[in-house]
Amino acid sequence: MSLEKIRESWATRVGFVLAAVGSAVGLGNVWRFPFQVGETGGAAFLVVYLFFVLLIGIPAMLVEFSIGRDTRLNPVGALAEYGGGAWKYIGGLFVFIAFVILSYYSVIAGWVVRYFLDSFTGAYSDTPGEYFVEISTGLDAVLFHAVFMAAAIAIVAYGIRQGIEVAVKVMVPSIVVLLVALAVYAFTLEGAAEAYAFYLSPDFGEIAADWQSVLPAAAGQAFFTLSLGMGIMITYSSYLEEDRNLGEDTGIIVAFDTGIAFIVGLVVFPILFTVGILPDEPGPGAIFVTLAQTFGEIPLGAVVGIVFFGVFALAALSSAISILEVVVSYAVDELGAERKRAAFGIGGAAFLIGLPVAFDSAYIDLYDQLAAEVLLVLGSLLLVVLVGWFAAERALKELEKGTSGLGTLGTVWIWLVRVPVAIVLVVSLYLGVVEYADLLREFI
Ligand code: PFF
Repeated sequence: MSLEKIRESWATRVGFVLAAVGSAVGLGNVWRFPFQVGETGGAAFLVVYLFFVLLIGIPAMLVEFSIGRDTRLNPVGALAEYGGGAWKYIGGLFVFIAFVILSYYSVIAGWVVRYFLDSFTGAYSDTPGEYFVEISTGLDAVLFHAVFMAAAIAIVAYGIRQGIEVAVKVMVPSIVVLLVALAVYAFTLEGAAEAYAFYLSPDFGEIAADWQSVLPAAAGQAFFTLSLGMGIMITYSSYLEEDRNLGEDTGIIVAFDTGIAFIVGLVVFPILFTVGILPDEPGPGAIFVTLAQTFGEIPLGAVVGIVFFGVFALAALSSAISILEVVVSYAVDELGAERKRAAFGIGGAAFLIGLPVAFDSAYIDLYDQLAAEVLLVLGSLLLVVLVGWFAAERALKELEKGTSGLGTLGTVWIWLVRVPVAIVLVVSLYLGVVEYADLLREFI
């Protein structure tokens, strides 16, 4: 009881919304999104992804918010209170997922920090492929993985109001303004028209022909980018004190995240098409290598490089703090740990778990696909079942707070959660597991 009383809270509504937007907008939008679009044939992927965001992402985010604000606890405590008994262990699964994701997320974000610094000298432009290999593995990668993790630890150590809220109030508006400026610049490039055509005219035949891989990839991307399925949104909304309209907040957060991913496409594809690179080369390094190369060739490339990698680094940091906060809130609430120590200990442990990725980037696919296409989908499925089938009344009552009544919208939401969302998640999970088994077989 006394623990609940001294629990922190957001100082302002804007603070909460910006933190959630900051969490959502991250490597998922800048690094993962364009290469998923490229790999799965452009606009076809975009359409399926948008469908997932609207029909699955929004209801699933509301599920997390209703649990978090209702219980005002970390995912383990929240699920134990909500579902009782064994649900505690499912809360534990979320903490585990957060750990796995943070560990490799920080390695990739470390590359971004390195690219940002090297943008000032243009060190990557001459031989971008070799440069990427050099900095993405070995001690270079370990060093920047450490630098990035230290920054995330420092912010989380200061807590919700003085750490996370202050940081996101600076970072998130900067990301938005700089990205829009880049998109305007990209519009002036020679390859813009061709790029927009690739990006914006869907080939539905392609979706039909390749649905077994487009479907789980788009579902995984939707969950990854909206920070769903691993307890982040439960954790962030658990620091809400007043009862605001959670539906409205969800709309704003999803609109920002989707809008920013979309704008990143409007920046990246015109740049690639201008120098004649087709964005269909798969793999996590693609965006780094190809963009670094283009920054050496396009007009004002040096400045564009600085701004692009700067935005990229800020986006990654405002997300990493939310992932770390999931585990820290668990340690503080459930284990009675002191916040600063918890942030340091947990960040340090995630740093160690990320080391295999820093030494050999081939592990990224192994970590990333497991996280995005299996664990996040599983996590969301479990929450959806809990709320939809076992705690619908309670969740509806929670969402009603701060509104003048949900009316039929509440019924629509709960039935979306119970049937179509659950079915799509089961199918995506099955396909995701099959794809992952294939990947493992290839790897071994
Ligand atoms: N949503 C953020 C991103 O797109 O990078 C951060 C993130 C959160 C990634 C949760 C993955 C995840 F499971």
